[in-house]
Amino acid sequence: MNTSSLPRIAVLATGGTIAGSAGDASKTAGYKAGVVGVDKLLDAVPALGSVAQIHAEQIASIDSKDMSAALWTTLAKRIDALLAQDDIDGVVVTHGTDTLEETAYLLHLVVKSTKPVVLTAAMRPSTALSADGPLNLLNAVTVAASKDAAGKGVLVAFNNQIHSARDVTKTSTYAVDAFRSPETGALGFVQDGRVEFQRTVVRPHTASSEFSASGQWPMVEIVASYADASRVTVDALVAAGVRGIVVAGTGNGSMHATLTQALADAVKQGVAVVRASRVGAGHVMRNGAANDDALGTVSAGTLNPYKARVLLMLALALGSQGRDLQRVFDMY
Ligand code: SIN
Repeated sequence: MNTSSLPRIAVLATGGTIAGSAGDASKTAGYKAGVVGVDKLLDAVPALGSVAQIHAEQIASIDSKDMSAALWTTLAKRIDALLAQDDIDGVVVTHGTDTLEETAYLLHLVVKSTKPVVLTAAMRPSTALSADGPLNLLNAVTVAASKDAAGKGVLVAFNNQIHSARDVTKTSTYAVDAFRSPETGALGFVQDGRVEFQRTVVRPHTASSEFSASGQWPMVEIVASYADASRVTVDALVAAGVRGIVVAGTGNGSMHATLTQALADAVKQGVAVVRASRVGAGHVMRNGAANDDALGTVSAGTLNPYKARVLLMLALALGSQGRDLQRVFDMY
């Protein structure tokens, strides 16, 4: 086979369970994430050699629970630089599953290229019996090498499915089909070298997004509403200089009356407040379960609280405020 005609894919490793190691092959919990290097991950998948020419980089070796805004900036800038090269056709990022949906959505909003960017991960460490990482990695590279994946924003290839970074979320603490896109479903599938898309992404992203990884990350925190919620957290955040608060509200983004008062006071102090839902599916309607017009709040639509936080940070960094924030949430 003439491998020099294969697509050239950069694999950027950041750690996670896909790079995890346990002392015993029967262990799928209680392992150490992010300890196996990218070269070893690639060596475990000889079939990659007939799919793409691989350029590998170790960007980080972390458990993704420890993902930071600084690392997001590094990753986004490196992806932009690689995709600007004529000799790179796409990028795959290996990541932990725990914050994969946040990193994927961040990249979906800031990467300035129409070339494919695909994230993947694993639920079982690389040392486990029936580890899922090697096949997920092969499938992710297969998607990144596919011309059909161009222009669709950042994608997540996991357990044979292809999801949009905007909608995908982790839905299981242990199952190998841990990722779902509630309400919208997967974009398509990848199996045995075949990539098939069945729907597309309609909201702006990547090259058509107004956002970039400027390296500025305004302080945005998440608070939840629940029975007997108090205003202690919101008041402490305002005192700490928070710029934005996302509420993981009950139901359609409703909030305990005590929390509502605290957040209305926060808005009066210039804090941007976005209502999302802790439910995990559905959307939060403007002026639905709370009067956004009167409170000065913004509804998150179908974004979960973690993704809403990412969008709010980017929007605040760009100077968006007031009703313009609702435009941003309605658009992205
Ligand atoms: C992590 O998110 O880095 C650990 C958990 C996982 O990858 O499944």
